[in-house]
Amino acid sequence: MRVDVLNFTGKIPDNRLSDATVIVVDVLRATSSIVWAIRNGAERIIPVTDPGTAVAMQLRLGNAERVLAGERGGVRIPGFDIGNSPMDFTEDAVKNKLVIMSTTNGTEAICAVKSAKNVLIGSMLNRMAVAKRAVEIGRDILIICAGTEGQLSADDMCAAGGIVDAVSQFADEFSANDAALIAALLYAGWKRGEADLSVTMHYSRLIRLGFARDAEFCFREDQTDVVPQLVDGIIS
Ligand code: MLT
Repeated sequence: MRVDVLNFTGKIPDNRLSDATVIVVDVLRATSSIVWAIRNGAERIIPVTDPGTAVAMQLRLGNAERVLAGERGGVRIPGFDIGNSPMDFTEDAVKNKLVIMSTTNGTEAICAVKSAKNVLIGSMLNRMAVAKRAVEIGRDILIICAGTEGQLSADDMCAAGGIVDAVSQFADEFSANDAALIAALLYAGWKRGEADLSVTMHYSRLIRLGFARDAEFCFREDQTDVVPQLVDGIIS
């Protein structure tokens, strides 16, 4: 089995996707929020790339039991029901509901890997569970870090490293690309308290926006066994 980590820059060649189990990671905060929404009973989540599409879908489907969620610049999109904070995805807000979600990087990365054999949603919150499911599927694993507008995000790399570390606990043997090895080293350093992610670009922006609690929450490991999966454009 092979485990590669790739930074999302807008396009992923089809030959990287067709036979792989893809794990999308946008630890701050889209994939953490998705994991938390499904854990809190959201029936389905439809990720869309732009807010206009989300609104059009909402109008087409009608208001009942639908939630519009998403951010631009880290804050709730005007007119949307909730933002992209995992704290927004409470049982009250999402249980038994269809969530239509648009975020700057996370939902774009998810939409870009639709053609993969299997697409799982990964985060620190479900680190072990997502790694276990991916190993059980038995295909090569491609961890896509959503990053920040094409740039590598250390927070995503650290979470990807956490998943690589978890894969190593379930897989008999595997090979990894250099990005996966770097991610695993970053995660190990972070575990030892040697890597302060709060100074990194997106993490520090969330702190400035008043979302320090979100960032701390998103880095809690193994809070749930839920492994959301994208099938035909719908996460459940
Ligand atoms: C994104 O998709 O870019 C993020 O999840 C941004 C955020 O809300 O922190």
